[in-house]
Amino acid sequence: MIIFLIGFMGSGKTHWGKIWATKAQHNFIDLDIEIEYAVGLSVAQIFETYGEDFFRTKETEVLQGLNLTQPTIVACGGGTPCFNNNLAWMNTRGKTIYLITSLPTILQRVLLEQDRRPLLKKMNTAELQFFIEQKLKEREVFYKEASFCLAENELNEEVILRVNSQ
Ligand code: S3P
Repeated sequence: MIIFLIGFMGSGKTHWGKIWATKAQHNFIDLDIEIEYAVGLSVAQIFETYGEDFFRTKETEVLQGLNLTQPTIVACGGGTPCFNNNLAWMNTRGKTIYLITSLPTILQRVLLEQDRRPLLKKMNTAELQFFIEQKLKEREVFYKEASFCLAENELNEEVILRVNSQ
């Protein structure tokens, strides 16, 4: 069974993906890391050097080229479901879980790692809050098309089993 975790930056996709993959004895894949391997640059460097369109094309290429022959949890990037029909592809290839996270939590978390996230670099806190609010509204349309929508405290072993059995 393949599970794709989707949600905004800072929603805990990688954090929870690793934990639940270990508990459910699934493989774990971080899509951003796979893109970094494929291109040979960090996500921030890819954005700086080649721009977002190039990143989105690579993201789709790498996503659809993943080796998913074993039960796997894939932590996607925040934008993955919103481009190139990736969400529809993920929903046919496995199950998608949207990790719902509140705006204050997202803001608090991304402030800690702003430099690592090319879309957020160089913004002050007020700009960041406005940007996140707008983007979240825009992206929720996609996120809500997930097979399951859960708050991160609802993601547990039982849910993984339920997702796998449906
Ligand atoms: C992005 C989120 C990032 C990464 C890239 C673009 C986005 O992943 O894919 O910086 O568009 O929201 P995380 O959600 O893991 O930070």
